[in-house]
Amino acid sequence: MPFEMSPFCRWGLPAALLALLFCPGSGEAAFEVFASPEQLVVKHGASSEINCTTISGLETTLSKTLLDKQPQWERYRVSNVSNNTVVYCHFTCSGKQMLRNVSVTVFHPPEQVLLKLQPTWVTVGNAFTIECSVPAVAPLENLTLTLLRGQEPLHMHTFVGATAAPQAARITHNSTAHKEDGRHNFSCRAELDLRPRGGVLIRRTSEPQVLEIHEPMPDNQMVIIIAVVSVLLLLFVASVLLCFVFGQQWHQRRRGNYGVQAAWRRLRRSYRA
Ligand SMILES: *[C@@H]1O[C@H](CO)[C@@H](O)[C@H](O)[C@H]1NC(C)=O
Ligand SMILES: *[C@@H]1O[C@H](CO)[C@@H](O)[C@H](O)[C@H]1NC(C)=O
Ligand SMILES: *[C@@H]1O[C@H](CO)[C@@H](O)[C@H](O)[C@H]1NC(C)=O
Ligand SMILES: *[C@@H]1O[C@H](CO)[C@@H](O)[C@H](O)[C@H]1NC(C)=O
Ligand SMILES: *[C@@H]1O[C@H](CO)[C@@H](O)[C@H](O)[C@H]1NC(C)=O
Ligand SMILES: *[C@@H]1O[C@H](CO)[C@@H](O)[C@H](O)[C@H]1NC(C)=O
Ligand SMILES: *[C@@H]1O[C@H](CO)[C@@H](O)[C@H](O)[C@H]1NC(C)=O
Repeated sequence: MPFEMSPFCRWGLPAALLALLFCPGSGEAAFEVFASPEQLVVKHGASSEINCTTISGLETTLSKTLLDKQPQWERYRVSNVSNNTVVYCHFTCSGKQMLRNVSVTVFHPPEQVLLKLQPTWVTVGNAFTIECSVPAVAPLENLTLTLLRGQEPLHMHTFVGATAAPQAARITHNSTAHKEDGRHNFSCRAELDLRPRGGVLIRRTSEPQVLEIHEPMPDNQMVIIIAVVSVLLLLFVASVLLCFVFGQQWHQRRRGNYGVQAAWRRLRRSYRA
């Protein structure tokens, strides 16, 4: 990590020097230098301010980005910060120089949090994959990704051994579909915790995603349905058969009646004759 330490205030980039110099009349110098903040967390490309403080007159030839100057302090703006670096508040008195360095951490916030469920339609008991990715984020070692079902965390991941350059963060988690999965939204939360470095906690959550759950029909329900259908089919066949049989009988009876009547008529005719 490159840092320039030009002894007398010619910092290319952000320079903040606080020199608190106590220069007693005796010529003996006791230095104390303060910088505020002592750690700086700056979004990539952004600017920030540093306050260099002294308790006696401060002589400094500091940068062109001097914002404000009081006998007790000087305030600088550092701009377009693009790399991690260290800058210094400094002050020289009686030929002695005192430095106070300020470490500058450049961060790339999680601008986008992308969540993908695969497949989006799944049967209870089957596997599905939740994938969360965040493009270009830094410092990766301060990033935590959490997969959520509703408000409930399913899986959490932190990253280690990262470089200062922005990198894509990605996690995948395999899960088995439950009936209640369909009733909650899935989401992914990215948290970049810069608090230990003097920054804030940056949180961003993905768009919610819905998992469509398909419930297979339970076996005994299937059996009941098959039984009912069979019974209905049987009743239908039986009624068709009965109709047929009764129809035949009725037909025969009618023909049988005609036969009796005809015989009767024949009988009467022969009786008259
Ligand atoms: C700079 O720091 C000094 C001492 O802490 C403080 O009194 C002063 O208000 C600060 N200036 C600004 C602009 O914050
Ligand atoms: C910021 O710095 C980059 C390179 O570090 C440079 O290309 C760009 O022009 C600078 N932008 C401004 C506004 O100074
Ligand atoms: C700043 O970072 C960029 C890319 O991250 C790199 O190309 C460049 O050399 C760095 N500049 C310094 C001064 O380290
Ligand atoms: C910053 O200052 C501290 C304490 O004075 C020192 O230990 C450290 O090495 C310095 N860091 C840099 C990068 O100069
Ligand atoms: C952030 O990263 C720094 C450097 O690796 C580490 O010391 C610190 O504990 C991390 N903080 C969190 C909250 O992850
Ligand atoms: C998830 O399952 C797939 C295959 O179904 C496998 O390739 C992958 O390694 C698994 N991932 C995890 C994190 O277990
Ligand atoms: C899921 O998210 C959608 C879109 O944000 C929302 O309309 C819906 O109410 C959410 N459902 C639940 C169960 O939270």
